[in-house]
Amino acid sequence: MDTVTLGRTNLKATVMGMGGGGPSRLGSRDDGIPEAESIDIVRRALDAGVNFIDTAEAYGTESIIGKAIAGHPRDDIIISTKKTTWDGQPLTRENVIASLEDSLRRLQTDYVDIYHLHGVKLADYETYVQDMVPVMQDLRQQGKIRFLGITEAWNGDVEHTMLQRALKDDIWDVMMVGFNLLNQSARETVLQPCIEKNIGTLIMFAVRRALSLPDHLQETLQHLIETGELSPDDIDLTQPLGFLTADGIAESIPDAAYRFCRYEPGAHVILSGTGNPAHLQENIASLQRPPLPAPIVERLKHIFRNVTSVTGQ
Ligand SMILES: NC(=O)c1ccc[n+]([C@@H]2O[C@H](COP(=O)([O-])OP(=O)(O)OC[C@H]3O[C@@H](n4cnc5c(N)ncnc54)[C@H](OP(=O)(O)O)[C@@H]3O)[C@@H](O)[C@H]2O)c1
Repeated sequence: MDTVTLGRTNLKATVMGMGGGGPSRLGSRDDGIPEAESIDIVRRALDAGVNFIDTAEAYGTESIIGKAIAGHPRDDIIISTKKTTWDGQPLTRENVIASLEDSLRRLQTDYVDIYHLHGVKLADYETYVQDMVPVMQDLRQQGKIRFLGITEAWNGDVEHTMLQRALKDDIWDVMMVGFNLLNQSARETVLQPCIEKNIGTLIMFAVRRALSLPDHLQETLQHLIETGELSPDDIDLTQPLGFLTADGIAESIPDAAYRFCRYEPGAHVILSGTGNPAHLQENIASLQRPPLPAPIVERLKHIFRNVTSVTGQ
């Protein structure tokens, strides 16, 4: 699988990253698949050449990943995990240190490559920088963290206000941002500045529900017509985005959605979350396919040019 340089980290990451969260959490949600099958999904991704795995304290999938990577050369894998910022507990030096130790134990490793503050809201940003970044920098000095990352809470911050603020500081090596063909607003507000500052980017929400479930797609497009962000002249609601799969252009809407993100300038690792081995194989194939034809990409840019209010959740 192709690799990219993850901005100033200089890490050589595969263009696909295995996502341990999202709606699937590797299949480990309440009525999900047995743990051994979730472990198998991660191992299949590694066997296919994927070297980037994203998880978080909050997902409950760190231990699945720890078991999946056991026995694999550690230096060949890039692990990204996160400190929860919304569980009502104040973030203190002690609980960040304790959380990282717990993450390391579950991941069966003695360092993480990228440690993020997870789902940071704009209102909390200044406090976290003042209080938490020095702790993260100490942990980095100790060799327990290699690079510092920050992720947005896109559903509550659809205009990327927190990341735009974070871009003004020279702290973050990596940013995780929501971007997909429905809402491309991060192109100007986050991805371009990241290129200028050589910050690594991780793309979340490439597919999510709206681009994987036809009913959700239809509802989302209808909503966008009602808000005036989408022109009804541009879309056929009886066959939403049918032009993407016509004439063999893409295998499916998820295929088109992953490829759209994969070739976006400034987008480094495209995260893909699944609890379904067949979807994993499809997504691995999608992220190795060539770009969508240029006129199709331009058409998607044109149709969704005014969309800022949805995430595809
Ligand atoms: N704020 C944050 O830090 C934050 C927030 C969200 C996500 N993330 C990270 O980003 C990763 C990626 O986000 P995401 O998991 O939402 O990714 P995604 O790849 O955009 O969407 C995953 C969803 O699409 C479905 N899906 C995947 N491949 C499919 C296919 N080929 N056909 C049909 N449906 C398909 C999955 O269901 P199935 O299980 O049925 O395949 C799942 O419901 C997460 O796993 C997590 O690591 C971080």
